[in-house]
Amino acid sequence: MRVLGIETSCDETGVAVYDAVAGLLSHRLHSQVAMHQAYGGVVPELASRDHVRRLLPLVRAALGEAGAAPASIDAVAYTAGPGLIGALLVGASFARALAQAWSKPVIGVHHLEGHLLAPLLEPRPPAFPFLALLVSGGHTMLVDVAALGEYRVLGESLDDAAGEAFDKTAKLLGLPYPGGAALAALAERGRAGAYRFPRPMLDRPGLEFSFSGLKTAVRVALRGRALDESGRADVARGFEDAVVDTLAEKCRRALRATGRERLVVAGGVGANQRLRERLGGVAQEAGASAHFPRPQFCTDNGAMIALAGCLRLERGANRGPPVPARANWPLDEVGN
Ligand code: KG4
Ligand code: ZN
Repeated sequence: MRVLGIETSCDETGVAVYDAVAGLLSHRLHSQVAMHQAYGGVVPELASRDHVRRLLPLVRAALGEAGAAPASIDAVAYTAGPGLIGALLVGASFARALAQAWSKPVIGVHHLEGHLLAPLLEPRPPAFPFLALLVSGGHTMLVDVAALGEYRVLGESLDDAAGEAFDKTAKLLGLPYPGGAALAALAERGRAGAYRFPRPMLDRPGLEFSFSGLKTAVRVALRGRALDESGRADVARGFEDAVVDTLAEKCRRALRATGRERLVVAGGVGANQRLRERLGGVAQEAGASAHFPRPQFCTDNGAMIALAGCLRLERGANRGPPVPARANWPLDEVGN
């Protein structure tokens, strides 16, 4: 089974070829970050139009790099949701047209399932079942993954996602959108403990998250102060430590509650080095192993969609939602 994967749910056009036996054969990505930067966030219409421009050249490049002729592709997988509906429809129409022309099956993949399965692209892939922490720009959730398609959401953010909190705080610190990685780099030069921000929701039981209060605490700390570079680095470090502490404690609780022996971390914030180190320690203390995608596959990409599509097709699992694309598609409705 060899699958062409296509990701267009937001502001990255991702294309990859995944082979069930040989593994990942190629992957190509075009990020629209520079285009959206002037607006301080993703402009949906611009995102859709850019996916239209990028898809065909990226598919050609990915097939070329894989040395895979169209006839050697067994199926096309694309992100069917959740995401920006216009952007999703570009990928859906493209993937379905290609599959039709090639007379091959097509499958609509859940974007978050792609993220959850991304660590399976690595050399030491986790076996099912596992506990997953999904931390991206749009989602923060703990998911009990019993098997492919068997997902139980244990807790999620009541307000901002972790990545959103990183991006909004980065903006307060004068960093360009999306500031998550830039904030993390700034935090490396900051002193631990110079600023102590609240650890949201740690004072009560449960696996829910809340990050909007933390962002407000940073805003209050910055108010009326003209901080120099090292002062801003201290604030960034204080913010990052608060997010990492919070995520680590919730993972510790979830590992204890579920008894799972593997912890998977996925989504854009999973690229954060300090978070990776801390969660490695949390897993070890719980007697569990920790699994991370390489940083490049934490953020949106086509490889995770090709892989998820391949696993589903191999299993004869369902082919996605009854409609080509769904802007809102709860993870526990994905089916198996
Ligand atoms: O998974 P993703 O590419 O997109 C969504 O599906 O949402 O995640 C993007 C998010 C952004 O909020 C970005 O700022 C954040 O991941 N991010 C990071 C880092 N790299 C990316 N946040 C913290 N530290 C990083 N190193
Ligand atoms: Zn994503």
